[in-house]
Amino acid sequence: MLHSALLNVMIKAARKAGRTLKRDFGEVEHLQVSLKGPANFVTAADRRSEEILCEELTRARPGYGFLGEEGGRREGNDKTHTWIVDPLDGTSNFLHGIPHFAISIALEREGTIVAGVVYNPANDELYTAERGKGAFLNDQRLRVAARKSLTDAMVVCGIPHRGHGDFALGRRELSAVQERVAGVRRFGAAALDLAWVAAGRFDAYWERTLSPWDIAGGLILVREAGGYVTDLEGRENPLVAGNVIAGNESVHSELLRVLKDAGKSA
Ligand code: IPD
Ligand code: CA
Ligand code: CA
Repeated sequence: MLHSALLNVMIKAARKAGRTLKRDFGEVEHLQVSLKGPANFVTAADRRSEEILCEELTRARPGYGFLGEEGGRREGNDKTHTWIVDPLDGTSNFLHGIPHFAISIALEREGTIVAGVVYNPANDELYTAERGKGAFLNDQRLRVAARKSLTDAMVVCGIPHRGHGDFALGRRELSAVQERVAGVRRFGAAALDLAWVAAGRFDAYWERTLSPWDIAGGLILVREAGGYVTDLEGRENPLVAGNVIAGNESVHSELLRVLKDAGKSA
């Protein structure tokens, strides 16, 4: 399949960083049995991945800014473009030898995400989208699931964990959703949660306390697959609030209502 020059740059970077992440993942599987565990090794793998991504993307588009989870913000001469990068999303999965993690790259142009690539090197699933041109999984066009009712929906979420998020609110939201849907999942990689909504595997996704790099690459996948993505107030840009809800039009709006009600009933 022919990609635009922009997507080619993003895909090349993701695949290059993906090769080293995959190698490091193989090493992590061995380190599980050591007493010290693989934590330091994983931190190094994470940084290595970001270095490769920054190097590749900056070489191809020298003026663009770069916002990465590990290195923070690096300004470029071109103030209208910024790469938003998570070099390893799903770190806990990676650390525990669970092959569900990804590299996420988004390009922001004047405040709007115009392209996204999410790549899981463990199973070689490459998700790509460009504004107005559709979303793809390894060159196959994606559509969000057609299920209309929340009752039939398989919903994925992120839940608060130690030192991260509002536990009481998280519990209220989870139990409200549990009572109304066919199934709830927690897979531990926000970028892939969004990618899997785009692919129609999950009907909807919501999560709070996120950073721009967790969701920037995935949100354009969902939109280009015909889905809706907002923050939990229903506003268009979830990067600002750091919380997100995604799904097809009807499941998104039904789930949003349930979560809003759960938020009120303190
Ligand atoms: C995390 C994952 C996880 C989400 C966390 C994120 P990381 O990103 O996306 O699914 O629940 O809030 O921080 O730390 O693995 O890059
Ligand atoms: Ca992340
Ligand atoms: Ca990360």
